[in-house]
Amino acid sequence: MSVSLVILAAGQGTRMNSERPKVLHHVAGSPLLHHAMAAGRALDPVRTVVVTGHGADEVAKAARSFDDTAEFVLQAEQKGTGHAVAQAAPLLANAGGDTIVLYGDTPFIRAETLEAMQAARAKHAVVVLGFHAADPGRYGRLIADGENLYRIVEYKDATDEVRSINLCNSGVICADTRILFDLVAEVGNDNASGEHYLTDIVGIARAKGLSAGVVICPEAETLGVNTRAQLAEAEQAFQARARADALENGVTLTAPETVFFALDTVVGRDAIIGPNVIFGPGVTVESGAQILPFCHLEGCHISRGATVGPFARLRPGAELAEDVHIGNFVEIKNSILDEGVKVGHLSYIGDADVGEFTNIGAGTVTCNYDGVMKHRTTIGKRAFIGSDTMLVAPVRVGDGALTGSGSVITEDVPAEAIALARARQVNKAGLATKLFERLRSIKAQKSKGL
Ligand code: UD1
Ligand code: CA
Repeated sequence: MSVSLVILAAGQGTRMNSERPKVLHHVAGSPLLHHAMAAGRALDPVRTVVVTGHGADEVAKAARSFDDTAEFVLQAEQKGTGHAVAQAAPLLANAGGDTIVLYGDTPFIRAETLEAMQAARAKHAVVVLGFHAADPGRYGRLIADGENLYRIVEYKDATDEVRSINLCNSGVICADTRILFDLVAEVGNDNASGEHYLTDIVGIARAKGLSAGVVICPEAETLGVNTRAQLAEAEQAFQARARADALENGVTLTAPETVFFALDTVVGRDAIIGPNVIFGPGVTVESGAQILPFCHLEGCHISRGATVGPFARLRPGAELAEDVHIGNFVEIKNSILDEGVKVGHLSYIGDADVGEFTNIGAGTVTCNYDGVMKHRTTIGKRAFIGSDTMLVAPVRVGDGALTGSGSVITEDVPAEAIALARARQVNKAGLATKLFERLRSIKAQKSKGL
C-alpha cells in the first residue's frame, strides 16, 4: 500500500514568543519539521505535502533542504486542523493508497508506531494514534472501546465526564486517502473554537458506517512543542534517547550525559566518545574511531582507527581516512586527509587535500582566503610540513617534500624538495648584554624623575 504524508506546519506558535515559525526551532541541530519528516520518511512515502502558513517561504525552504521532492500548500488563514488537511486535497485526493497526517511540531513519533498504524488500516478506514496521558490537560479525548474508536471530543467541547478520560489524541491519523479527503470536506466549524477540527472525521466516518480504530503509543512519542520550556524538554528527551541508542549499539560513551547528538549522527560499533563531545548535523564516525573530550564535529566523516581531539573542531567537508590523527586545538574544514595523516597540534587545515602518511607540524595554517576568494592547498604523500608553516593557497607541496619551520610557502614545492622560506638567522656577539644595560639605565633615569 503506498503512503503519502501531510505535515501540518502552518501555525505561528504564539507561545514560543518568537519571530521564527515554531516548526523551524531546532532540536538536536535540526528544525522540528525535519524530525517529523524523518519519522515519515521511514515509511518511504510516495508524496510528502507540507501545509505552510506563518513563514511559509522559510518553512518550505527548510522542508526542501530535508527532502527536495516535498510539495507545499499554503493555508493562508489557520482555520483549524481539518481545514489544514483539506488544503492538500488538490494535490493528494487522487493519489490513492493511504495518507498519514503528522504535525510539524511533534518530533518524536517513531517509525514503528506509524507502521503499526498502517497495519491497523487492514481493519479500519481511519486509524488514530492515541496515548494514555499522565496529565490529560487540554488534549482531545478519545471515546473508544478497545481498539474501536467512536469519536474524538476536543477539551473545550467536552463534558466533565469526557474530560475524566485519560486516553488522548496525539493528532496523528492514518486513513485511506480517498476517504480522508471526503471526510475532511464534510467537517464543519460549529464548536467551541469555531475551527474546522480534523478530529471530527472520526464521528463522521462512524455515521457513514465506516470503521475507525485507535493505536496506542507511549506518551513520550507524542510530546509536542508549544513553548521554549517544551523545546528544552524536547532537546533533553532527544538526547536521552540518542545516548541510550548509542550505548545499545555498542558505542562507548564515557560520560553519556555530556555528549550531544544531532538528528542524523551515525556512530559505528566500538567507537569511543569521550566527555563533552558535540555533534552538529551530518557526522559519521566509523567503527573503532576515537573522539577524545571536548570536540565539536559537524558535516564530517571519521574513518576506522582515526583519533580526534581533545579540543578539536571538524567543520563541514572534513573527510578523515583510516588511522588519521587529529590532535588538540586543530580545526579542519572542507579537506580530505588520506590514510595515516597526522595533524597533532594547533593547526588550521581548510580547503586542502593531504596525501597519505603526511605529517603536519604544530601551528601550520593553510591560508585559504585572500579576502575575496577561497583557494586550495594540495599536499602529497609522506610529506613533512614543518611547524608554523603558512601555506598560502593556491599552492602545492609534492610527495615526500619538506617545508622548514616558520616558512611562508607561496610557490609550489616539487616532490622530495626542501622548501625554506624564512629570513636567514644572524647572531650578534654580546649585543644582548649591551641592550639590557642600556634599557636598565633608561628605566633607572625615569624612576628618578629625570
Ligand atoms: C490538536 C487536536 C487535539 C490533540 C492535540 C495534540 C484538533 C482539533 N485537535 O489540538 O485533539 O489532542 O492536537 O497535540 O485537531 N495547524 C495548522 N493549521 C491550522 C491549525 C493547526 O497547520 O489551521 C497545525 C499547527 O501548526 C500544529 C498542529 O496543526 O502543528 C496542531 O494544531 P494545534 O492548534 O496545536 O492543535 P491543538 O489545539 O493542540
Ligand atoms: Ca498543540
